[in-house]
Amino acid sequence: MLEVDRILDDAEKMDLLTSGKFFAYVYETGDEELKAVAMRALQRFYNKNMLDFTVYRSAIFFEKEVLGFSKKLLHGEDTCGTFTYGGTESIMLAVLSARNSFWKRRGKSEIPKVLAPYTIHPSFAKSAHYLGMDIKYFGVDGRLKADVESLKESIDERTALIAISAPNWPFGTLDPVKEIAEVAMDKKTLLHVDACLGGFILPFFEKLGEKVEPFDFRVEGYFDLRRSPQIRLRTKGGFGCAISFNGIEEGLDVRRRSKSRIHLCEPRSPFLAIRRSLGFCVCCSQVSGRRWVPKAF
Ligand SMILES: Cc1ncc(COP(=O)(O)O)c(C=O)c1O
Repeated sequence: MLEVDRILDDAEKMDLLTSGKFFAYVYETGDEELKAVAMRALQRFYNKNMLDFTVYRSAIFFEKEVLGFSKKLLHGEDTCGTFTYGGTESIMLAVLSARNSFWKRRGKSEIPKVLAPYTIHPSFAKSAHYLGMDIKYFGVDGRLKADVESLKESIDERTALIAISAPNWPFGTLDPVKEIAEVAMDKKTLLHVDACLGGFILPFFEKLGEKVEPFDFRVEGYFDLRRSPQIRLRTKGGFGCAISFNGIEEGLDVRRRSKSRIHLCEPRSPFLAIRRSLGFCVCCSQVSGRRWVPKAF
């Protein structure tokens, strides 16, 4: 046995969970065919990155593929987006654009606030902290869903963003997106729906004939460009997408980026990590795109 195998074997023994159909930490389907496709894609592109699409031209091709599929799945054909390294990065981008939009409207003298139920993922608090914002939590109802009355009581002039989940991380309950979108519209506040878990699960439940409460771009209120909410979703661990209606202003659109080299060096480029692995993006396009479709569909 090679020394490297011995080290890897020993290290693997430290982990409690290495494989299996487990829907947390990793999102293993247990489908060997899917895994083989993902591994083949990752292996072929593992040493390429998304730093410069004029060198790795396939980066734009694959990013467009992933976004195209994701937007279709969420009925957001008119939206734009970017490939990210997962939930936290996507959330940070959403909070950033809400802060910038608040600054544009009200100047920089007040500290903008993120308003979210207690069940929201901790990455919102982290984003608010990084971006010099406050976060305020509101209550949940008896079914552990965001409480609309509690939200209405908490909203004020400093609210830059309302954030809710579809579904949330600790309990898996879906917040009342439609009702909260109405409040957001009424109060002229941006809304972010964290579909990190649900973005790639709920649409398939719907296709299987399950009743799924509305949570995606079909919800009315998502169509107002000025107050456009943002939604983002995550695919398999380690990569995801940020998709929104007002992202064009923020330079979030992969199509616009592909036309301008300036975006490579711009501080306002719509992602955090610059030299992202192209392997993950390719892997994501092959397992989530039109090429590999689960047998049930
Ligand atoms: C609902 C929800 N939002 C956000 C995140 C953060 O995503 P990531 O771990 O990819 O940064 C998670 C992670 O599991 C999540 O479940």
